[in-house]
Amino acid sequence: MNTACAPEQISELNVPDYVRHAGLVAWVGEMAALCKPDRIHWCDGSQAEYDRLCQQLVDAGTFRRLNPAKRPNSYLAWSDPSDVARVEGRTFICSETEEDAGPTNNWMAPDQMRAKLQPLFDGCMRGRTLYVIPFSMGPLGSPIAHLGVELSDSAYVAVNMRLMTRMGRAALDMLGEQGDFVPCVHSVGVPLAPGQEDATWPCNPANKYIVHYPETREIWSFGSGYGGNALLGKKCLALRIASTMGRDEGWLAEHMLVLGVTNPAGKKYHVAAAFPSACGKTNFSMLVPPKGFEGWKVTTVGDDIAWIKPQADGRLRAINPEAGYFGVAPGTNMRTNPSCMRSLQRDVIFTNVALTDDGDVWWEGMEKDHGGQLPEHLLDWQGNDWTPADGQAGRKAAHPNARFTVAATNNPVLDPAWDDPDGVVIDAFIFGGRRSTTVPLVTEARNWTEGVYMAATMGSETTAAATGKQGVVRRDPFAMLPFVGYHMGAYFGHWLALGEKLRAQGATLPRIYCVNWFRKDGQGNFIWPGFGENMRVLGWMLDRIEGRAAGEPTPLGIAPRYEEINWSGLDFSDKQFAEATALNAERWVEELRLHDELLAQLASRLPQALSDTRQALAQRLAIESR
Ligand code: OXD
Ligand code: MN
Repeated sequence: MNTACAPEQISELNVPDYVRHAGLVAWVGEMAALCKPDRIHWCDGSQAEYDRLCQQLVDAGTFRRLNPAKRPNSYLAWSDPSDVARVEGRTFICSETEEDAGPTNNWMAPDQMRAKLQPLFDGCMRGRTLYVIPFSMGPLGSPIAHLGVELSDSAYVAVNMRLMTRMGRAALDMLGEQGDFVPCVHSVGVPLAPGQEDATWPCNPANKYIVHYPETREIWSFGSGYGGNALLGKKCLALRIASTMGRDEGWLAEHMLVLGVTNPAGKKYHVAAAFPSACGKTNFSMLVPPKGFEGWKVTTVGDDIAWIKPQADGRLRAINPEAGYFGVAPGTNMRTNPSCMRSLQRDVIFTNVALTDDGDVWWEGMEKDHGGQLPEHLLDWQGNDWTPADGQAGRKAAHPNARFTVAATNNPVLDPAWDDPDGVVIDAFIFGGRRSTTVPLVTEARNWTEGVYMAATMGSETTAAATGKQGVVRRDPFAMLPFVGYHMGAYFGHWLALGEKLRAQGATLPRIYCVNWFRKDGQGNFIWPGFGENMRVLGWMLDRIEGRAAGEPTPLGIAPRYEEINWSGLDFSDKQFAEATALNAERWVEELRLHDELLAQLASRLPQALSDTRQALAQRLAIESR
């Protein structure tokens, strides 16, 4: 984005004297002329500004300041009940052709979409302030990072962006006079008439659009204040737009956590892992090694998104483009994620959790830290009284998709390299869905192509939080179904081509693993204990990389033998292990049928190598079941 600017516009726009980018000023002028805000505020990203905006949100009734003795410098927001999650049905990839967006995205022709949005944005910020929010996705100045500027009429967005990105003057300095940035325009979509009282959570229940123009690298979001729809650096820029940048420039933008794992000898590896939304990525990224893994350390580089760029030496280096965590609160407790609980002790923005009578927060799952004891009284996420009787009747106190926003620097197990502009070298990729049957605990792909096939055909059972329907398997390739900004078949091709290119450079490619922590027994109980115990599986992967575990071949790839996993400190029998890893031929016939549905849907851009891999897999499974 780089446009010329008429100098006379500048004085009307409240431009601070340190802003040197004429194209940015011109664009802000153009957008202000369209959206017609009452005021313009350029965010400098300072603590004083953050505190001032939070106080303004308290005064407006959007924020409630939590008890400073219990949760210092923290706030609680309750959203409009209609604005609690990403709106996939209202999310559009407006590439020039429908074929480029592919069958897994909603598409509209760019001109048609612009014509639709123009009247919606015209005057949409009347009565409000337009916040100019410059931000860097990734460490400032990193060759892997990219800059964006979000224009938003929401102070909630401005303060969340300060926690989630490197936001403010430092990002503007990186932009200099001519730097490139991704322009992002956001409005809650409810202009205010003079004297009209504002809602505590303004949003437009009738009209929501989350729009991406991949060719011109623009984002326009209308009608929602919810994080994934409104914090445009995250899913919109760092995944949908960045995936198309990665396709064009030869790198990867992925829905992956990145963790560092250091063994007792001090050798450190980095692993990137993709799981669909609400499948425990934040927990895995902050894993506490269990008994039997004394001297091991796991540290967090990122919990949700990775940008991975190949280097001249053929290695893949990754950064976390974000600077904070926007995580799901319910289910988080001292057992599932103690480091996260410690991160949340102060300086947090909570959205849609419940409020205790002493001014603290509460969500389902916290009772496990209090011997199963529920609070006697709460205000639920809609401000209604809540007692344990409501809980017993199935009424949740926190919305299942309630969130915390917190800076990464609050994380006690933050990786020392999390802000390193060079990023970290990726040694392995992990892909995992939520599957109560069929998919075994862990499989190593025998090569890059088979790994890409495993990731491409990954499925996950939907959670009630996301869709209202429990347990329906939806294909979620690479955990990127809602986030790839172009044709999914071409995205698979991009992964294959990258592997090919690295191989041609003589590089050792990262290993690829497929995991399933969620398999259930005949009684419906999880077989695998999960959480910190996932370290045992991670340990086996590192043993494979170091050549210490032979594994054994299965039709899917290579699996661990029972005795190759460190069981010290956990009572997990070989019978349980067999249950967690068994391949059931009948289920795999059905599974392949579901793979075929996906592959057929993507046929116009499906790489031949994946069809071949599917045929070979079917043959191996048939031989096995004979
Ligand atoms: C998220 C998501 O918010 O994946 O991270 O939905
Ligand atoms: Mn996510």
